[in-house]
Amino acid sequence: MRALVLAGGSGTRLRPITLAMPKQLIPVGGRPVVFHCLDNIRAAGITEVGIVVGEWEDVIREAVGDGSAFGLRVTYLRQDAPRGLAHAVLIARDFLGDDDFVLYLGDNVLAGGIGELVAEFATVGPDAQLAVGKVSDVSEYGIATLHAERRVTGVQEKPQSSTSDLAVIGVYLFGPRIHEAVRAVDVSARGELEITDAIQWLISTGHDVRGSIYEGYWKDTGNADDLLECNRTLLAPLEPRVDGSVDAASELSGPVLISAGARILGSEIHGPAIVGPGSVVRDSTLGPFTTVGAGCLLEGACLDESIVLDGASVRQVHGVSRLLIGGAYGAPAGSPGAGGLSLVLGDNRVPVAHR
Ligand code: TTP
Repeated sequence: MRALVLAGGSGTRLRPITLAMPKQLIPVGGRPVVFHCLDNIRAAGITEVGIVVGEWEDVIREAVGDGSAFGLRVTYLRQDAPRGLAHAVLIARDFLGDDDFVLYLGDNVLAGGIGELVAEFATVGPDAQLAVGKVSDVSEYGIATLHAERRVTGVQEKPQSSTSDLAVIGVYLFGPRIHEAVRAVDVSARGELEITDAIQWLISTGHDVRGSIYEGYWKDTGNADDLLECNRTLLAPLEPRVDGSVDAASELSGPVLISAGARILGSEIHGPAIVGPGSVVRDSTLGPFTTVGAGCLLEGACLDESIVLDGASVRQVHGVSRLLIGGAYGAPAGSPGAGGLSLVLGDNRVPVAHR
């Protein structure tokens, strides 16, 4: 069995952050989203992985390397443009051969791993197996209808209403029949080759498509709200550790991880929270569920439930909750680091700052 991880795409819902970095490298729980995918793939016993990349190929290659750090052998597959999930399967034909494979969306988190899904697929041996999870709002998801023996009888993209409340999660298992299916479908109204159309083609032509209910926590981190929510969930079991320095005027409470080379000066940090390597936090208060990446500078900042990306600076910003930020925010114009990219989520949960 092989794995195909999709780390291309446009990431429009996470602009402006994704103008500066691929969304698959945004950290949740202190680790880039796609690293969680690769960890799960390895834990399921798979070692041959193809990663589909787009214009951020170099950055993803630099972060993941040849895969040996994860116990994997990684092959990069360049997609010329985000032409859809089924198109990504199409261009991976040579890499996949006729092997069974798991298709894993590189912005999806499945906190309980994928071992059981892979084992079930190996036992039942269908042409396709969809991981599905219950949702309250069907209009946001691809929805699968399941019948006896968990056979999938239909998949619908974002229906207004449905008799099923089972959303298709970003992990699919396929046998080689999927290659015929991705060749058979046409470009959709939104201009992509859709994996749901390929799955519907398998169903309509009498192939065996099953659903497997995923009981663990899962999240598609494609928008800022879901990303912050996922960060919150993954940070909850954090183990406290201090490898950096914390001065006498600072106070840590709850599970807080201060990485090597980080300096905490005159600040309060309430866990669960992470401060990344080499970052400086001065005269600030960091509330629970906040992660600060590597090489950041926070001065006079008061934040909680936020993700501060590597190299970002946040100065003189008070009472901010649910901030996802890269570049610089709050720095006086003309100062070093000012004018970077930032995204701020206010109470109304829409971006209010973009520069
Ligand atoms: P999506 O989140 O569905 O698409 P997107 O990345 O284009 O995002 P947005 O809708 O905000 O513009 O993609 C799911 C995953 O699949 C994600 O990791 C990106 C990846 N992907 C590809 O690798 N190739 C593609 O052609 C597409 C559409 C997505």
